[in-house]
Amino acid sequence: RRGLLLGSAAAGLVSFAPSAIGQVPASIDTLPASAPVRNLSLVAREIDAHLLGPDKPATKRVATYDGELFKMVRAPRGTRLIVDFENQLPDFTTVHWHGIRAPYLFDGVAPITQEVVKPGERFRYNVPLPDPGFYFFHPHCDETGQVGRGLFSALVVDDPADAKAGYDAECFIVVKDWRLGDDGQWLEMSTTDGAATTGTFGNIRTTNGSLTAPRVEVPAYGDVRVRTLIADGTRVIDFGCDTDDAFLIAIDGQALPPVHFNDLPDGIWRMGPAMRADAQVRMPAPGKEVQIFDYRSAEPFLLTTLVAVDKKGMRAKSRTALKAKPLPPAKVPLPDLKSAKRMEFLLQVSAGATAVSPPLPADDPLSKALIDSMCVGSTTHWAISRDSWAVQDALRLPPPLAVLDNGTSYVISMTNVTKHVHPMHLHGHIFRVLSHSKKPKLPQYLADTVMVEPNETVEIAFKAVSGNWVFHCHILEHMDTGLMGWFRIS
Ligand code: C2O
Ligand code: CU
Repeated sequence: RRGLLLGSAAAGLVSFAPSAIGQVPASIDTLPASAPVRNLSLVAREIDAHLLGPDKPATKRVATYDGELFKMVRAPRGTRLIVDFENQLPDFTTVHWHGIRAPYLFDGVAPITQEVVKPGERFRYNVPLPDPGFYFFHPHCDETGQVGRGLFSALVVDDPADAKAGYDAECFIVVKDWRLGDDGQWLEMSTTDGAATTGTFGNIRTTNGSLTAPRVEVPAYGDVRVRTLIADGTRVIDFGCDTDDAFLIAIDGQALPPVHFNDLPDGIWRMGPAMRADAQVRMPAPGKEVQIFDYRSAEPFLLTTLVAVDKKGMRAKSRTALKAKPLPPAKVPLPDLKSAKRMEFLLQVSAGATAVSPPLPADDPLSKALIDSMCVGSTTHWAISRDSWAVQDALRLPPPLAVLDNGTSYVISMTNVTKHVHPMHLHGHIFRVLSHSKKPKLPQYLADTVMVEPNETVEIAFKAVSGNWVFHCHILEHMDTGLMGWFRIS
């Protein structure tokens, strides 16, 4: 079974000619020109850092934005970030604003939306923030290596209206593993075995950079908004906690009608690389604790402990019956399901994949730019039908998976015929997850990255926005070895 485009435009879509790539789609702004501006200067650079603890040798070549590990940028919704980015790394890089609906020319994907930023060079990103939520930004060039060594930053877009939901405290959990030897230096970021299976796991796990789970004091009987991001490129967690008084309230920063954790499949929310989730956790009496775990590990792995307190400066709330506290509903453009056109893709291993169209010739300007970018290696292990990276030739850009119309709604049905999970991310859009074949009872929700289990079919729908947008697995070694494609929308 190959990906098919049904509907009236199908014929035109299937016979896409590479020459059409030369046409540049409009790059659409998502905020008015009058939106308030915040200037941000951002420098990518390497530091030495004591990742294994103060008494252990410092790790060299830790990659950071502004020299800060676990950096967080926060801005109100409706702000436009003008980012003066400078690359002080010894490698090529770009900055991708994960989940943000920005003009595609600032999406940071070399060579599809921009050229690489070379060492010593600068690039100015125009990043409108139209939607509140929990996001992050990271390079889109040698992700496995650069993100692996720490290059990312959380990005929180605040909505003043969230205050009405009435949370008493907020807590962030950023999950990141490190691959380090006893001498504190980097182990090889990718192994062939890892890249062709689950990805290569780190051997040191951290929450917010801490080797031991943080303990966070919050008001007893209060409602805590727990906001979790998987910044790791491999780790998949089963997010849950040891209280029955918890709801899932947002996915990828977008509010959903709260779902009690006991009503989620297995009482957990599975999160892979780049996925975010917000939970409401009701605290018990003073002195008691709530522990947040990854239940996917053989032994539940403690991510964070919330400690209920009643003390000066942090008074217990009055004890009330448990009640869900929904966040204001997200206001993103929604697809029109009645008129939506349908596409089907297989997530598969490249060995069995046959592309419908050949990749771009090696002398095509975009193929050349790709080779020059040095952002991907030449190996492929994975494929997205119907047009994927060529088997064992990831250096020739494949033609777009499809050529779509700006403003038209589409449904993507993707079926994972591999043995491993794939968190699939579409750039430039917040999509509606219509169904998971393995989680039939799950309500629909909005997301930018969605987990597709082995032998599962997941359907997402979105209203297409002009641009060249990539669509890929966020297990970084999977995307670097073929589980990536792109849409041309104009
Ligand atoms: Cu975090 Cu291509 O994305
Ligand atoms: Cu994958």
